[in-house]
Amino acid sequence: MILTAPVMHYLAGLVGPSDPLLAEMQEHAEEESIPVVQPETGRLLEVLATATGAQRAVEVGTAIGVSTLHLARAGAHVTSFEVDELRHQAARGYLARAGLADRVDLRLQDATEGLATLVPPFDLGFVDGPKQGYADHIEQIVELLRPGGLLLVDNVLISGTIATGVPAGPWTSDHIERMRRINQRLTTHPRLLSLISPVGDGVAIAVRR
Ligand SMILES: C[S@@+](CC[C@H](N)C(=O)[O-])C[C@H]1O[C@@H](n2cnc3c(N)ncnc32)[C@H](O)[C@@H]1O
Repeated sequence: MILTAPVMHYLAGLVGPSDPLLAEMQEHAEEESIPVVQPETGRLLEVLATATGAQRAVEVGTAIGVSTLHLARAGAHVTSFEVDELRHQAARGYLARAGLADRVDLRLQDATEGLATLVPPFDLGFVDGPKQGYADHIEQIVELLRPGGLLLVDNVLISGTIATGVPAGPWTSDHIERMRRINQRLTTHPRLLSLISPVGDGVAIAVRR
């Protein structure tokens, strides 16, 4: 058993916000209870986008732009969907301050509708929007990815409740059942080669066959 609580705390302690702007964004998110990727998840996105040389990325759930910034900073052009206008505007401000405004297409639009308008191929897709939309957004992104493209999905371990089956914090029995079905789908999907990694709140990493 390597994934004990002390090990997880140690790993989380190794990766903090890597610059003052990201630190400010994390603080903003905490103050307003806006869920954003954990620092180690942001780092994972940036590592994978850099390693794969992703040029075109698509994201569901911009919030205030933390994960968008990690992907854009890795060199990708990111199309990202958000339905909350205040968050969308905040993301615009942060990405502009990071000097990355020309690397992002931030859309104030429902992701299901927006994804349906995109033209493939994309190199990378990140699903981090409403949990009830995960199943559809994953299938939509599989259609948009090029063979060899990466699909990343956040919160697939939902604070560990996925394994205990016991609702906790924001995660209800409905979330647990839904996410179990999603993980089953991801790991047996005929067009994906997938792995569930325990980084952050659990990140599925899949390559489109
Ligand atoms: C977990 S947060 C995204 C965090 C962001 N990826 C980050 O790490 O910086 C999920 C976001 O999805 C947005 N959202 C909810 N329903 C949506 C929809 N139908 N289409 C697009 N975004 C949606 C929420 O407003 C929320 O800001």
